[in-house]
Amino acid sequence: MCGIVGIVGSQPVSERLVDALKRLEYRGYDSAGVATIKDGELHRRRAEGKLVNLEGKLREEPLAGTIGIAHTRWATHGAPTERNAHPHFTDGVAVVHNGIIENFAELKAELASAGAEFQTETDTEVVAQLLASFRREGMGRREAMHAMLKRVSGAYALAVLFEDDPSTIMAARNGPPLAIGHGEGEMFLGSDAIALAPFTNEITYLVDGDWAVIGRASVHIFDIDGNLVTRPRQISMAAAYMIDKGNHRHFMEKEIHEQPEVISHALGHYVNFIENRVLPVSGVIDFAKVPSLAISACGTAYLAGLIGKYWFERYARLPVEIDVASEFRYREIPLSPQSAALFISQSGETADTLASLRYCKEHGLKIGAVVNTRESTIARESDAVFPILAGPEIGVASTKAFTCQLAVLASLAIAAGRARGTLGEEEEQAMVKSLAEMPRLMSRVLNSIQPKIEFLSRELAKCRDVLYLGRGTSFPLAMEGALKLKEISYIHAEGYAAGELKHGPIALIDENMPVIVIAPHDRFFDKTVSNMQEVAARGGRIILITDEKGAAATTLDTMHTIVLPNVDEIVAPMIFSLPVQLLAYHTAVFMGTDVDQPRNLAKSVTVE
Ligand code: G6P
Repeated sequence: MCGIVGIVGSQPVSERLVDALKRLEYRGYDSAGVATIKDGELHRRRAEGKLVNLEGKLREEPLAGTIGIAHTRWATHGAPTERNAHPHFTDGVAVVHNGIIENFAELKAELASAGAEFQTETDTEVVAQLLASFRREGMGRREAMHAMLKRVSGAYALAVLFEDDPSTIMAARNGPPLAIGHGEGEMFLGSDAIALAPFTNEITYLVDGDWAVIGRASVHIFDIDGNLVTRPRQISMAAAYMIDKGNHRHFMEKEIHEQPEVISHALGHYVNFIENRVLPVSGVIDFAKVPSLAISACGTAYLAGLIGKYWFERYARLPVEIDVASEFRYREIPLSPQSAALFISQSGETADTLASLRYCKEHGLKIGAVVNTRESTIARESDAVFPILAGPEIGVASTKAFTCQLAVLASLAIAAGRARGTLGEEEEQAMVKSLAEMPRLMSRVLNSIQPKIEFLSRELAKCRDVLYLGRGTSFPLAMEGALKLKEISYIHAEGYAAGELKHGPIALIDENMPVIVIAPHDRFFDKTVSNMQEVAARGGRIILITDEKGAAATTLDTMHTIVLPNVDEIVAPMIFSLPVQLLAYHTAVFMGTDVDQPRNLAKSVTVE
C-alpha cells in the first residue's frame, strides 16, 4: 500500500528519495512521484507503473533540491494514472498521502463551490486544496496544517511541503504508520524503518493524532489539540537486515528457503530445547484463567490463526472465536472481559486487524500480538507481544511469516495446554521435540522436492482453476495454498474442507481441473482418501501431498504424489506449507507474472 518518504537534507535528495521508495516497493503500488523545492519553487516528476518509469523521467529531467517528499501510490480513489499520482500540487502546497480521507466528497464539494479547481480524482487532493485555501485566508503554515487536520477525517499518513519554506516538511498520522528518522544535520520521514534504514537507525514513531514540523536539525511534534508532545526515540533493528535477494530470482523464493533458519530462530524464543518444554507465557495473559480466546487477522495471517484455533482447542481445551478482521470488527461479538484476544499480523499495521484489536480493548480483553514488526502499531497497542522473528518479508505473498506465525501459535497452544493442565509433561515434551526437529526436516524437504514441484507447476500453469482439499489443520492450509496460487499466478483457486467436497465443488470436477489434496497420514487420512476416490471416480486429476506413510497406504492411482517425510501432527502444517508455497511460486514463474509484486496487491494494507 502507499509508501511515503521525505528528506530535509543538506545534499540533493531526489535520488535518495527514489532509493528509499524502492525499499517500500514491497508494500505494493501502481504509480509513483517525487517533489522537491528548488529556488523557492516546487517541482515534481510523476509516473504510472513501476519506479523504473519514474527513474526514466528523472534521468531525462533531473530534479534538484535538498528538500523533498516522494510517494508510491496504491490506487484507492481514481485510476493509477500519472495525473492521479502524488505529490499533489495546489498553489504552493505539495502533499503525499497514505490512507483514505473519508469525508473527501463533502470537503471537495465545499471547496469547489468556493472556486477550487480540482485536477485529480483522488481523495488526497482535498488536503492540498484545504491547505492552500487556509493559506489564502492568511493563515501561517502551522496554523493551516492544524486547521486542515481538524477538517479531515479518515485514515492518513501525510507529508506536506510549502513552497515558501524550503527547510521544513510537515507530517501527520492517523492510522497508517509514519516514522521520523534522525540524521546528522538532516531529517527523514518514512512509512517504515526499512525505508529509512540506510539513512539512520534512530527513529521516532508518530502516534495517531500526531503531527510534526520537521526541520534539518529539529522536530516538533504536536497532538491534535496543538499541544507540543514528546515521543521516544528508538533504535530500529531494520538496518541490521540485508534487504536483498541474495542468489535468488525473487524475494519470495529467498523467503521460502529462509524458513528452516528463521523458524529455528523463532522457536528459540518460545522453547527450551534442552528440557523439551515450552517457556511459560508470563505477563498479562494468563492462559490458565481465560475462559476463551478471540483471534482475528487478515489474509494469510488469518489462515495461520485458523490453524491456531485447532491447536488451542485441541491441546488446551480453550474455545476460540475467530474471524477475518474486516468482519470481526463489525460483528458485535459478545466478548467476555475475562477473555484474551490474539491479533496476528506480519506488518502489524493492517487497518482491519488494528480496528479489531481496539474493539477488543474497549471490551476489556487482554490483548496479545503475534507480529513480525515489533515496532508496529499493533505491537505497541498490545498488552503482550509475541514476535515471530521472521526478519523482513518483502515478497507480497507471505511465506516465512506464515510458518513462523504457526510456530509461535503452536508454542503458545502448548504453553496454554500446560498452564491449563490439559497436556501432560510427556505429551508436551514429545511435541516440543517434534518442533525442534522441524528446521532440519524443512531443509530436507526444500532440498528434495524441487524437481517434482517444477514438473507439476508446468502443468498447473496451463490450468484455469485449481481446487485444494484438506481436513483438520490441512483445511486452512488448503485455503492458504489456494490463496498463494491465486495471488501470484492469477489462476482461480479454492481451498475446501475435503468433507465438504460433495456439497458443491464436486460439480466442478472434470479432467481439466487439478485437485491438490493435502493429506498427511494423520487421524483424518482414510477419510480424505475416500474424498479423493470421489474425485478420481469423476476423472479428476489429483496431486496428493502426503508423507511416506500416506504414500505407502494409498493404492489410489493418483495423478502425482509429492512425498514428504513422516511428521507429527503438530508440525505437519509447517512442513506441508513448503510444497504448497513452492507449487504457487514455480507456477507463477512459469507464467511470467510479477512474483514479488503481484498486480493489485499490497503487502501492508493500511486502509479498510
Ligand atoms: C495483505 C498481504 C498478505 C497478508 C495480509 C495481512 O493482503 O498481501 O500477504 O497476509 O495483508 O497482512 P498482515 O501484515 O496483517 O499479516
